[in-house]
Amino acid sequence: MVRTKRKSNVDVVYNEDSRRVLDIITPDIKVQTTITSPPYFDMKDYESDDQIGYGQTYNDYLMDLKSIFEGIHKITKEDGTLWIIIDTFKRNNQVVTLPFDLTDKLKEIGWLLQDIIIWKKDKTVPWSNSGFMQRKFEYILFFTKSSKYKSNRDSVRVYDTNHLKKWWVKYPERYNPKGKALDEVWEFPIPIQGSWGDKYIRHFCPLPQDMVATMIQISTDEDDIVLDPFAGSGTVLSQSAYMKRKYIGFETNNEYIKMFEAYIRRTFEIGRKEYELTNNNISQGQFEETILNLRALKYGRVLLTNIQKKSEFKKFKIIVEIDGASNLIHKLLKVKYRIIGEFDEALFANIIDNLIASPPLSKFGIEPCFSFEVISEDDLQGLYGYTQTNTYSFAKDGDISSHKVRILSPICVDLNENDYL
Ligand SMILES: C[S@@+](CC[C@H](N)C(=O)[O-])C[C@H]1O[C@@H](n2cnc3c(N)ncnc32)[C@H](O)[C@@H]1O
Repeated sequence: MVRTKRKSNVDVVYNEDSRRVLDIITPDIKVQTTITSPPYFDMKDYESDDQIGYGQTYNDYLMDLKSIFEGIHKITKEDGTLWIIIDTFKRNNQVVTLPFDLTDKLKEIGWLLQDIIIWKKDKTVPWSNSGFMQRKFEYILFFTKSSKYKSNRDSVRVYDTNHLKKWWVKYPERYNPKGKALDEVWEFPIPIQGSWGDKYIRHFCPLPQDMVATMIQISTDEDDIVLDPFAGSGTVLSQSAYMKRKYIGFETNNEYIKMFEAYIRRTFEIGRKEYELTNNNISQGQFEETILNLRALKYGRVLLTNIQKKSEFKKFKIIVEIDGASNLIHKLLKVKYRIIGEFDEALFANIIDNLIASPPLSKFGIEPCFSFEVISEDDLQGLYGYTQTNTYSFAKDGDISSHKVRILSPICVDLNENDYL
């Protein structure tokens, strides 16, 4: 009789040794990302027979990790990824470079190392402080299965204006409209023992929930499967559940699993609510719009100043109107610049052509379109006026015919750089 293997489930923690990953996970399961912190080598007894690390030789430990990540490689989607949180440690008065030794093994399997992130934390586990300097960080290794991998990088950009240097107001051309890219040093404090509730797990090293959320956000979409082969207190699994992903965990200590199951029942609703609140991208959209508005206005101002420098045309105004998204490579926005005054258009066009083809204007991501017009003061009514030195807050007291007001636009921005960091 041929026995067919039962399909493996999702949203479950298997009380199994993760060395058996390929026996447990059936081929219908395709993992999008794995996020895990492996057991420490020979330092902590997680009180189960099948644990790896404790009581092993370094070589056996490395080979076991290699075989687990080899199995995971097989069940990972082609565009899938792997995050490993791992640290060096000291033995015989020397640093053992576990993150790099493990990387060498994973490369043999076919995992591609894409990034090494420094996780800066306020304190580390006690045994790692055996040098003359304080240990303040741990490594996060980010691997991919192929060179084309899922990454929602834009969704984790920093666009909270309180966390950007105030220059973004004056120099919008230097900021990506979707926000500042994450850097390779991540600062997340480790959860304090006890903040998990008295009855919850006294597990040694729970990961910060926000840090796990960042990894999940970057490398998965809703409904994707997230795996943690060393689930521990289940931070990766609970965060995945809050964020509408499916999870699979492995954990040899059944006590931890029971505690995780109680924890997720208790916190699921609030975790899901928090995710839904932070998941709307309105504020990122607003930031993007503000940066693009600032760029369009500043472009007009820089253009005006440079034309004044390079020609005898000194007193004129420019009306700035956004005309939609640009289809050109490296350009984001089409903007009309209506130059108001009587000019020799051919001469003017020549000056402008040279100006827009070189920095700084060529760096603004703007596809400009120019017209030359003579219009009456009445036609300027209803527009916001900006001076030659400031296009991030409109000129309040000056009426728009004042000679100080040089840029006019239906765009309204009113930012005070000192209100930001
Ligand atoms: C460093 S902890 C993981 C902590 C976890 N990231 C968290 O946020 O709580 C490593 C875990 O792996 C478990 N473990 C050790 N050997 C294992 C194995 N062979 N298979 C599955 N789990 C194992 C240990 O019991 C321990 O809970």
